Parts: sequence; C-alpha cells; structure tokens
Amino acid sequence: MTLPYHPLRDSPSAVTEPTWAHLVWRSLINHYVPEQKLTIHNALDLGTGYGHVVSVGSEHYGINVFGVDIRPEIYQGPKGRFIQADLLNTWPFKDGSFDLVLEHLVFDDLISLQKKACEDVAKHFNSELNRVVREGGIFFSHNSGFHPESPFHLVASDTPFRVYQK
Ligand SMILES: C[S@@+](CC[C@H](N)C(=O)[O-])C[C@H]1O[C@@H](n2cnc3c(N)ncnc32)[C@H](O)[C@@H]1O
Repeated sequence: MTLPYHPLRDSPSAVTEPTWAHLVWRSLINHYVPEQKLTIHNALDLGTGYGHVVSVGSEHYGINVFGVDIRPEIYQGPKGRFIQADLLNTWPFKDGSFDLVLEHLVFDDLISLQKKACEDVAKHFNSELNRVVREGGIFFSHNSGFHPESPFHLVASDTPFRVYQK
C-alpha cells in the first residue's frame, strides 16, 4: 500500500530528527529503564519513518531495535532492522517479543491525516501492544495521543514523554 505524500507527515521538520532520537534513548537508558529495573534487549519503533530511533538505539546503545512502517522508501536506518507492515493489521511479531515498544506520532497520523476512527485504532493498538510486549516490558510514548489501557499502567509522565509498564 502506498500512502500519498502529506506535508505534515513527510516534511523533514515533522519527522524525528536524530537529536530527538538521542534525547529519547538517553532518557530511556539513563532514567526510565534503571528506575523500572528493566533490561532492554529487543525494542520496536512503531511507524519508524526515517528510522532515527532505530539507528541511535542500535548504534549507540547496542539494543536490538526494529522499525516497522508501511512505507519502506523513506527508511534510512541500519539494514536488516526494518519491517514493512501495516499497523492496522496484525503486527508481524510473536507474542512477548519486545521489552520495549516506542511510538511517536503514528497514532496521530492515522487519526488526523488518514481519518481512521480513533476508537478502532486505539482498540487495535491496545490489543497488539499487549500481545507483543513481554510481561514487565514498557511502552514509551513520545508526543502521542495514544494512551494504552490496562494491563499497561503509567509509571512516568514528563511531557512530552510517557512511560507505561505492563
Ligand atoms: C508523522 S510520521 C512519524 C515517523 C517517526 N515515528 C518519527 O517520529 O519520525 C508517521 C509515520 O507513520 C507511518 N504510518 C502511517 N500509517 C501507517 C500504518 N498504517 N502502518 C505503518 N506505518 C504507518 C508513516 O509512513 C510515517 O512514517
């Protein structure tokens, strides 16, 4: 499936800068992960876009990060770390595969730009997130309108970051 160009989604200023990805990982590794006494081996970045979160997480922090996006053409991250998939379908990962899932602006893209029904997308994201995150794993939301439900509970909220644990 090809998503048409949309200036809000596709202009470089709207897409995570590498510096933002550094800030995300620094906050996670130095602050939230030790606070929650977690070990992060496998992580997934939903709607990764250029893949900066994948690049920084794998190259600077040695984490096994994968990026998933419906559009492979804009991905610039490390080879072998990108999976093409439509997040509105079943996510192509086994149950409990990830210690950490990150999301930045994908939910909002689906709701605002692609006019999907908020309740339907939230229900689907809740169900798939709960399936792919291991017990005790975390969901890291930055600047996102998506708020996961139980069994995820909010453990930290420092605008624009929210951290949920399962
Ligand atoms: C606003 S961009 C954010 C990209 C990245 N998370 C960032 O912060 O730079 C939204 C991303 O979601 C992707 N996307 C939109 N709908 C999707 C879908 N149904 N399945 C997978 N990815 C999707 C788009 O291709 C785009 O890369």
